[in-house]
Amino acid sequence: MSFTAVIGLQWGDEGKGKIVDYLGEKHDVVVRFQGGANAGHTVSVGGREFIFHMIPSGLLRPQVTGAIAAGVAIDPDILIKEMEEVGKLSAPLEGRFWIDGRAQLVLPYHKAEDRWEEELMGGIGTTKKGIGPAYRDRYYRIGLRAVDLLSPRNLEERLRQSLDFNNQVLGARYGKPPFDFKEIHEDLREFGDRIAPFIRDVSVFLLEENRKGKHILLEGAQGSFLDINFGTYPFVTSSHTISGGASVGAGVPPRAIERIIGVTKAYTTRVGKGPFPTELKGPEGEHLREKGGEYGATTGRPRRCGWLDLVALRFSVWINGASELAITKLDSLAGTKVVKVARSYSLGGKELLYPPLDLSDWYGVQVNYVEFKGWGEISSVRRREDLPPEAKEYLDFIEDSLKIPITYISVGKEREQIIAS
Ligand code: GDP
Ligand code: IMO
Ligand code: MG
Repeated sequence: MSFTAVIGLQWGDEGKGKIVDYLGEKHDVVVRFQGGANAGHTVSVGGREFIFHMIPSGLLRPQVTGAIAAGVAIDPDILIKEMEEVGKLSAPLEGRFWIDGRAQLVLPYHKAEDRWEEELMGGIGTTKKGIGPAYRDRYYRIGLRAVDLLSPRNLEERLRQSLDFNNQVLGARYGKPPFDFKEIHEDLREFGDRIAPFIRDVSVFLLEENRKGKHILLEGAQGSFLDINFGTYPFVTSSHTISGGASVGAGVPPRAIERIIGVTKAYTTRVGKGPFPTELKGPEGEHLREKGGEYGATTGRPRRCGWLDLVALRFSVWINGASELAITKLDSLAGTKVVKVARSYSLGGKELLYPPLDLSDWYGVQVNYVEFKGWGEISSVRRREDLPPEAKEYLDFIEDSLKIPITYISVGKEREQIIAS
């Protein structure tokens, strides 16, 4: 028995939530392994929409067990709110949801710093959920972990150390008054009481479930080009979003992850600042934004839109070891007369099949496109062979270029609007 990972191949918002919810039918356990409430994973069932930020998207299915693994940065307020909502919408979470004691906590001063840096100093366009500062504290070894909530002494000691550091930094850089220990401490004690029954070693839990032959899905957040190492640095998030992140984030050996489903939109979007070679800045981009409803699930910000980029995808298919593709929002391109795809970039007289290393080159490349004839409405199609020939040609070209099969084609936001092969 092996694990399956669902990974975003672009700059996030590929439709991972929809694919995870769909796959949830045939999986027993769904695990978030990195990121935090910067994620916004939308699931639409029977005309009702739910946006997951903290807990795994699979939990809308009452038979699914969910887990937040060691690599996640937990936002206490959002977690509690979401646990209550999902508990009511599907089935109570007691006994079917676990939190790894190693997961880091995002604290009020992390969120404040993220906000202040963005608002006062002009940042990179983060979601302002405190992700960067929380992971910074993890690497600086002054972070608080979920397990610290179980020991009053540890909680007090670790919070004092972390707060002392953060108050000094925030005071010096932003001239803000210090955060009060007592208030944060009380809130954390209350939060600890609430989540104590859910805390355990998720890595060992996954080992046991795996031994029982359970089907386990690892749910990625963000996208490959937001990866802290392999993304368009510094316009990236602060975790490893690629499939390797699933191993270190969930506590699962790399070779146990056999199936890696790379999710891509049929075009490209990005929120926040940073390079985007195939971006459409004029009316074509606006058309895609309106047609695809491209507004951020976490922040409501309009998403930047552009054509599908095979140069970027070639790299993310490789770096993730994607064994198959799930392509979403093919329906959102319906009605577009000419659909373009980036085949390669040109830089300094050279053709590039993979993205450049240097950020200024990302901005400087010229894009070489292939054009396809558009197609009409496809949202009720349920078999690949019933798609219009133009859409089939588009998909065949993507498969041929990336040399992996497309196994899921999503043609609408609802759970059943999908072609599975
Ligand atoms: P995620 O972060 O990767 O889970 O993606 P988001 O939920 O942030 O954004 C994807 C958006 O597209 C959501 O509003 C989904 O409801 C919607 N969506 C997903 N798949 C499809 C599709 O095939 N067609 C259409 N029209 N919408 C889709
Ligand atoms: P899902 O899981 C799209 C982007 C932000 C910003 C950069 C850093 O829904 O695909 P951060 O708050 O993480 O420090 O912001 O990363 N970003 C996302 N963009 N989808 C996401 O998540 C994102 N999470 C972060 O817009 O550019
Ligand atoms: Mg999203």
